Amino acid sequence: MNLGKSLDYREALIPTRLSKIKRILMVASGKGGVGKSMVSATIALILSDMRYRVGLLDLDFHGPSSSVIFGVSSSPREEREGLVPPESAGVKVMSIDLFVAGRPVPIGGEEKREIIKEILALTDWGELDYLVVDMPPETGDVLLASLNYLEGDRWVILVTIPSVLSHKVVSRLIEILKEVKVPILGLIENMADMEVEGKRIKPFMGGTRELAGMHSIPFLGSLPIDPDAAYYADNGEPEKLKKTLFTESLREILLRSGILI
Ligand SMILES: Nc1ncnc2c1ncn2[C@@H]1O[C@H](COP(=O)(O)OP(=O)(O)OP(=O)(O)O)[C@@H](O)[C@H]1O
Ligand SMILES: [Mg+2]
Repeated sequence: MNLGKSLDYREALIPTRLSKIKRILMVASGKGGVGKSMVSATIALILSDMRYRVGLLDLDFHGPSSSVIFGVSSSPREEREGLVPPESAGVKVMSIDLFVAGRPVPIGGEEKREIIKEILALTDWGELDYLVVDMPPETGDVLLASLNYLEGDRWVILVTIPSVLSHKVVSRLIEILKEVKVPILGLIENMADMEVEGKRIKPFMGGTRELAGMHSIPFLGSLPIDPDAAYYADNGEPEKLKKTLFTESLREILLRSGILI
């Protein structure tokens, strides 16, 4: 079998799949642990609640997030047209862990790029208004390969926490995105403040609005540290996650962002 040829065939399938998707929202930060998965899953939930047709694609190789938040464990259904993702809370969920279930998890860069190509070629989303993508948490070639394949009406939503370290990594990512000319919708500040004994305090130094200004990209807004949201996400309770302060704040950001079709 000519493996190279069969993979090229899959690559050719990607534009056909993506042509049925009106808008792609890619959630990225470059930095790990800043809430990309929380933000992407919750954006998918909010859009689904607004009656849009929504898919969520988790391209993080480091461990399952989306499938946990949505409480899905069943493998995608193999149909004639491709792999049909399981659905939860009205969102079609596909992730690396669901996709590679039972196979060795890819570790090298080349293997990861092949898996991203395969997942995009084989997943049958059907018609979607939005595909929300939880992007790989890095700024290297796996991210670039994902950007390369995810063509269409696409926008990057950047997430950072208000810390110097996170700002440094997101700055690097902004430079890369500008270089490869992928449009940036704007920057979201996660974990901006929290409630302690009835008062709202800011545990980090802040400055994310200024960071967005320095890079001439829109500052989309701030999200609170919300232990309830974290609990519902960790326990796969999307319907309860929907009713948290975190989700309410993100809904306001989306309504203001100009991204709604
Ligand atoms: N605003 C928030 N309030 C409370 N907990 C949060 C908030 N944002 C994220 N978390 C929690 O912090 C942890 C990291 O968040 P998340 O997994 O979404 O980050 P990530 O950027 O996707 O990380 P990774 O790079 O590992 O994929 C999770 O346990 C999540 O529930
Ligand atoms: Mg994640």
